Parts: sequence; C-alpha cells; structure tokens
Amino acid sequence: MTATPTHQASELEAKKQLFDMMLAFVKSQCLYVAARLGIYNLLSDQGEQSLSTIAKTTQTDPERLYFVLRALAHVGVLEEKPDRVFAPTVMSNLMVTNRGASIGHLAMHLLEPAQWNAWNMLEESLHTGEVPFERANGQGVYEFCQGDDWSGDVFIKAMSFFTAHSIEALLDAYDFSRFKTVMDVGGGQGGLIAGIVKRFGCKGILFDVPYVAATAPAYLEQQGVEAGAIDIITGDVFVEIPTGADAIVMKYFISAWNDEDAAKILHNCKKALPPHGRIVLLQAFVPDLDEPKTAPDGIMPGIFAVQINVAVPGGGWRTKKQFQSLFEQCGFRLEQVVDTTTNLSAMEFSIAG
Ligand SMILES: C[S@@+](CC[C@H](N)C(=O)[O-])C[C@H]1O[C@@H](n2cnc3c(N)ncnc32)[C@H](O)[C@@H]1O
Repeated sequence: MTATPTHQASELEAKKQLFDMMLAFVKSQCLYVAARLGIYNLLSDQGEQSLSTIAKTTQTDPERLYFVLRALAHVGVLEEKPDRVFAPTVMSNLMVTNRGASIGHLAMHLLEPAQWNAWNMLEESLHTGEVPFERANGQGVYEFCQGDDWSGDVFIKAMSFFTAHSIEALLDAYDFSRFKTVMDVGGGQGGLIAGIVKRFGCKGILFDVPYVAATAPAYLEQQGVEAGAIDIITGDVFVEIPTGADAIVMKYFISAWNDEDAAKILHNCKKALPPHGRIVLLQAFVPDLDEPKTAPDGIMPGIFAVQINVAVPGGGWRTKKQFQSLFEQCGFRLEQVVDTTTNLSAMEFSIAG
C-alpha cells in the first residue's frame, strides 16, 4: 500500500469541508421546517412516533417528509429506528418551542422566508450597499416583525433565548452591584434586566419599542421579578432615551446600526446619563487577526456578523477596537473589557471629560 501524499490528503480534507459547507443550507432548512411543523414538540410531548403518525399530525406527505426526517436523523437532530420510527434526541428537545423561549425560536427567526429571501440579495447588496433584508422585503426587520404576528413572536422569543443562554456567565463575570439603577436599552422582553435586578438588587429600567415592551410584564412575572423593581418605558432611541439610570446596558443593540445611527444613539445615551454614568456594551465581538475565531460557546462572530449584515444596517458587527473607536468619537472612554464563557463580552465605557 502506498502512502497518500500530504498535499493530496489535505486536498481531500478541504473537499470534505467544502461539501459540508455547500450543503449546510440543507441542514438549516430541514431543521427549520421540522420546527415549523411542530415535530420537535410532538416527539418531546409524546415520545417516538412512526413516520405515518408524524405525517398525519403535520398534514404532510409521508414519502416526502421521510427525506427530511432521515436527513435530520443523519445529523443527530432525530434518531431513526427500524420501520421508520423517529425518536427525540438532546438536540430535538432543545428545539422544542411550546415551553417558552428556546433555540428553536432562534432557528425559526434566522431561517424564516423573509430572512431567507434576503440572502438572495447578498451579491447585489455588495455592489449597491443596500441592506439585503430591506431590499428583499421592502422594509426593515424590526418593522417587518412588528407587522407580522408570527414573526414578531418568534423574534422576541429568539432574543429571550439568546439572553437566557448567556446571562448567568455574564452575571458571574461582570459586577453590576455598584450601580443604583441600570437601564437596558433595546432590552426586548427584559430577561437581562431581570437577571441583573435579581442578582445585584439594583433598580431596573427596560426601554424598548411598544410592541416588544408589551410582552415584558408577563415575562418579568414569569422570571420572578418583584412588582416595581423594573420600570418599563417605551419609546424610540433616536428620539430620546429616558433619564434616571447611572448605567445603560445595550446587548446586541448597537450592532444593528451603522456608525452614523450608532453615533446618534450614543449621543442620546450621553444626554440620559449623569456625568459619572457608564455604558456597558454587551456583544459578541468580531475577532482581530490574532484572536480565536470561535467563541467558547461555539459561535463564530465573523460568521454571525454576515447574518446581521444581511438583516440590518449594522456594519457586520465590529471588533473591540472598532467599537472602542466608535465610542471614543462620541465622547466615551473605555474603562474595562470583561470576557465570559459564552460569545458575550462586556465593554464598559465612562463619559470622557
Ligand atoms: C437585536 S434585539 C436585542 C434585544 C435584547 N437586547 C437582547 O439582547 O436579547 C434589538 C432590540 O432593540 C429594539 N429596538 C429596535 N429599534 C429600536 C428603537 N428605535 N428604539 C428602542 N428600541 C428599539 C427591538 O425591539 C429589539 O427588542
């Protein structure tokens, strides 16, 4: 037997990776469609099921459905047993969407048709500079979610899942106890501010647009937040940010905006804060050349950044240095950077001069 030359071995490895990348969209779509059909919920609630039962319950054609379920079994999302019986797995149980916010909501948000259509505009947008989502759907992602009940619900829950995923690691790593009142700007349903208030005993303010903030009271109650511990204020960051907090947190918020809009938001933050106030920017940061490309929880910020850039005008996320320079141009000074054991890091800024 002759040994495979090194360059051929590496070419084979490279080809394997390219095949995998090329077909990654198939995995995404199968994952998404099974969530839409409620198959993860069904298997989690009722245990393993035959193909014919799943097809009947989901009103789908069994032969066509089988291709999707088999593919999901081949990548470990489901388990296929003899006689076309499918059983739940750890992954499918994580995808369940009928017991509160889950990674299944994030998958449905990222893979729904309005987002998918935006990808068709990626090449064109590289020439024109337009936001692909806006080009494909005639409106921004926030307006779109506001106008569509299903998409709005899925978006809000996707964000809540993402917060729940990283909050404990953040609260272990970053001490909010020195602040009297913390305001989460663009805080969604309030998972982050609820965690801060409960762990550190400070007062909280949740600031978001009305349709999102409307879902917060029920969510905060579920999180065991005492009545009165968090004020919910609605409005538009581009118009005015409420006063009353000595720290503003913004998680995955500034990253949705280009530098010009981000500067307007930072200007309004500055007006809302006292002179000793702080902004705590919470984000995954795109790594510089010499930094690891994958966050401890497996998320690759440089990959995720393309998704954000397709969906919103956010400049493809930013590196820590880019954020620092953006904040410095707006009159803030970097005080500290705190990494956590998830994709989330904190950059704390004070008001300069
Ligand atoms: C990407 S989500 C992040 C939510 C939350 N911070 C998190 O990490 O889960 C952005 C949030 O900003 C809110 N938002 C968007 N435009 C806004 C505006 N002009 N004023 C206030 N909030 C806004 C959205 O409703 C949404 O809840």
